[in-house]
Amino acid sequence: MRVAVVGVVGRLGRALVQALEEAPFTGFRPPIGWDQPELELDTVTAASFGALLDRERPEVVIHTAAWTDVDGNAREPEVAMRRNGTAVGEIAQACAGRGVDLVMLSTNEVFDGRRTDGRGYEPRDERHPINAYGAAKAAAEHLAADAYEGSAGRLAIVRTAWLFGPPGADFPAKIAAAALRARAAGEALRVTGDEVGTPTYAPDLAEAIVELIGDDDPPPPGSRTIHHLVNGGRASRADWAREVLRALAIEVEVAEVPSSTWQRASTPPLWAVLEPTPLPSGLAMRHWREAFRDALPARGPAPGRETWDHGVLTPASHAAGAHCTGPHRSLPPPHGRGTNELRVTGRSRHWPDGRARRRFKGPACPWELLHCARPPSASLPRWSPASASSPRPARRPRSPPPRTPRWRSSWARPAA
Ligand SMILES: NC(=O)c1ccc[n+]([C@@H]2O[C@H](COP(=O)([O-])OP(=O)(O)OC[C@H]3O[C@@H](n4cnc5c(N)ncnc54)[C@H](OP(=O)(O)O)[C@@H]3O)[C@@H](O)[C@H]2O)c1
Repeated sequence: MRVAVVGVVGRLGRALVQALEEAPFTGFRPPIGWDQPELELDTVTAASFGALLDRERPEVVIHTAAWTDVDGNAREPEVAMRRNGTAVGEIAQACAGRGVDLVMLSTNEVFDGRRTDGRGYEPRDERHPINAYGAAKAAAEHLAADAYEGSAGRLAIVRTAWLFGPPGADFPAKIAAAALRARAAGEALRVTGDEVGTPTYAPDLAEAIVELIGDDDPPPPGSRTIHHLVNGGRASRADWAREVLRALAIEVEVAEVPSSTWQRASTPPLWAVLEPTPLPSGLAMRHWREAFRDALPARGPAPGRETWDHGVLTPASHAAGAHCTGPHRSLPPPHGRGTNELRVTGRSRHWPDGRARRRFKGPACPWELLHCARPPSASLPRWSPASASSPRPARRPRSPPPRTPRWRSSWARPAA
């Protein structure tokens, strides 16, 4: 099965590439990856996306690309509607017209979060967004569903929430950085206590999506389904922050504050809990705390070393300057960045050809280094300018080892 991922350098896009590479039904070819500048949400049309489809001929498109800066969305709602709303409609039209299946990513923010009965939102619940990001995503759901009316292809709307995982700049990374600042200033770390959601580990979500599309008994052509794919459990932002601090051994007092404390452009839904829908295997995604533990490195730091071998990066070692020089996650060749090995040394992040990778702007963050650290190994190529033009490095075993994918049973039936 040929699968194309739109937004291949994003948090979920990367995880999907890895999950697809490990899936038994995708063959030896790597998944097709599209991102900027080839695919630009500001300008994409059904015709331009159709040209990409005609060139690469995927059977399934997974659309993850989005403008995920919710405050930016609130400040520029027209741009938000274009990137996160109408662009998805254009992509859906192109796919539906060719009978190509589409999985589009959506969010808990299509709901207002004012629910008080303690239950998570279900697929059949009425959408009622309260911010520009949610409004654009809700529009995208409508436009995509309209496009698939009478199509030979299938549409799956996958809603998720509170994604975390590599490459960093996620909630755990921000909390870790804020905690170090608060501790240095001798202050408590202030975290929202009244915002509750379902933290979801991007690699787990990727596996779940791959399970959806890998079914040998798919729903009928023209089906339009909604799936709520999140890890199990729920947590307030403060609960989650405490878990991060415990895991990173950062000792700082946590002060719970109401979300109204923060002046921000967007209004987050306070109840961000989605009721998970069953996976084709009948299994639910694991609890977020278990996923979070897996996301942490397994081994402690080697004493006296400057490289961290899956080690817990302590504030002290972070302050001393971190060096992580092993080979890193690779991205598929269509992305056109040489070997696509990412090198993280101290505070600089760049591709092997020397171009700065803009999503890694900003200070080095413990979380990102934790994710990126790999044990130096004689059997693995170290990055050097000479290796920049060599083929992709040999696949390394993941750490922690991948869970056995659950390729079973049938595609989830229409949820509503
Ligand atoms: N993050 C969450 O907590 C969360 C929660 C619920 C739902 N979701 C949804 O899940 C999906 C994946 O989220 P994520 O966290 O993986 O997002 P992400 O890390 O921010 O990645 C977004 C992707 O979209 C691309 N992109 C951004 N602006 C673009 C533009 N104007 N034109 C073309 N591509 C553009 C980015 O490319 P560049 O990096 O090159 O800009 C990147 O590949 C999104 O649809 C998001 O709305 C996310």
